[in-house]
Amino acid sequence: MGMDSTDGKPAKQKMWGGRFSSSPGELMQAINVSIGFDQRLAQQDIRGSLAHAAMLADNDIISQQDLKDIQKGLGDIKAEIDAGTFPFTDELEDIHLNIEGRLKEKIGEAAGRLHTGRSRNDQVATDFRLWVRDYLDHLDGQMTDLMNALLEKAAAHTDTIMPGFTHLQSAQPVTFGHHMLAYLEMFARDRSRLRDCRARMNESPLGAAALAGTPYPINREMTAKALEFDRPMANSLDAVSARDFALEALSVASICATHLSRLSEEIVIWTSAQFQFVKLTDAFTTGSSIMPQKRNPDAAELIRAKVGRIMGALTSLTIVMKGLPLAYSKDMQEDKEPVFDAFDGLSLSLAAMAGMVRDMTPNKEELAEAAGAAYSTATDLADWLVRKLGMPFRDAHHVTGTIVALAEGQGKTLAELSLDDMQSVEARITDDVYSVLTPLASASSRTSYGGTAPSEVAKQVARWQALLKD
Ligand code: ARG
Repeated sequence: MGMDSTDGKPAKQKMWGGRFSSSPGELMQAINVSIGFDQRLAQQDIRGSLAHAAMLADNDIISQQDLKDIQKGLGDIKAEIDAGTFPFTDELEDIHLNIEGRLKEKIGEAAGRLHTGRSRNDQVATDFRLWVRDYLDHLDGQMTDLMNALLEKAAAHTDTIMPGFTHLQSAQPVTFGHHMLAYLEMFARDRSRLRDCRARMNESPLGAAALAGTPYPINREMTAKALEFDRPMANSLDAVSARDFALEALSVASICATHLSRLSEEIVIWTSAQFQFVKLTDAFTTGSSIMPQKRNPDAAELIRAKVGRIMGALTSLTIVMKGLPLAYSKDMQEDKEPVFDAFDGLSLSLAAMAGMVRDMTPNKEELAEAAGAAYSTATDLADWLVRKLGMPFRDAHHVTGTIVALAEGQGKTLAELSLDDMQSVEARITDDVYSVLTPLASASSRTSYGGTAPSEVAKQVARWQALLKD
């Protein structure tokens, strides 16, 4: 999704399945190496190093000439990474040593001065924080796009009637726009959670060094500012060992993926031959190889499934971190792959869902018919008896049950039942009752704040249009 310039493939695959009769050195390298995946941190590693080098020069810890050389070398390396020509190698273990090694090839001795007052422990903590923060910003934009897609559908269908369900049983008529806005509210909370997470994590670990700080006269405010962090982290032990920012980001991702799976499930149900509530074009469905009549909602099914891996990532990293003593332990190298996988999965799901929502056409006739079936306006009849005849709700409920049974016996909907028949159950019923018995009348009467009446839905659409304007 355009987040990375590298493809995440191992630099060099040395070990093949079953061939582990290698030397201790080879085994150690195989288990220790992380360049195959942490090369995704390359851009963040360079940004961190540029900020660190500028700060070292500003405080006379390295010379201005060293800084110039380092800047030139890192610029060349960035170009190689962007062009896909950087020579990643397993021999140099991880992204930090790969870049530092390449810098040495390019600028010689000055490369060795870059690591003054810094350790790979605060370096990786900084890189990973920057990476997660960058990706959260990307996901923020994608969530906003999905919210806009739902809003467009809602605006077009403020008065499209559909059945509302509880227990997946027809309950009361609602509007399609109202249903879309329910998801918009959920994704708005996901985006708000994401922003809370971003605000909390936006502190710089850089300068914590290995774990205890450093005797060099460094300026952590300066590097924090250069990397657009709000402030340096206040405790060096915490700075190198904290990964709760990643756990929180995965929690945000898991909740959002759960919401996506619910909408996916509805789309799977709605597109089935039994429901036919909405149509998707060929863009988001696939044909069956042997059943020509079928259009399978594969995209929705795959989004529904992604929550498994995303929540699995949260579980995986939680267990990696559980019981780890302060400060850094190599266990923490296992923090990256679950996060990469979860964020990629969420990003793809958000994009596909936004596309599918825009692609979806509600089938108005099917929806209206289904909304009128199964005595979905029975509550409206009971409410009419309460409002117009002053009946206690419990009695009205009983009378309505009798009328529904009568209609059922005649194979009619409530709106089709004659006034005589209704009066045989309750003599005071007048033909005013028919004004509440159609699904549209039923939905239109629910004008309480947040209710399903087209007038209310239109108000909520206007509110969101104003909120999402920029
Ligand atoms: N590749 C390591 C990681 O991802 C970088 C930090 C290594 N630090 C160390 N002291 N060995 O965690």
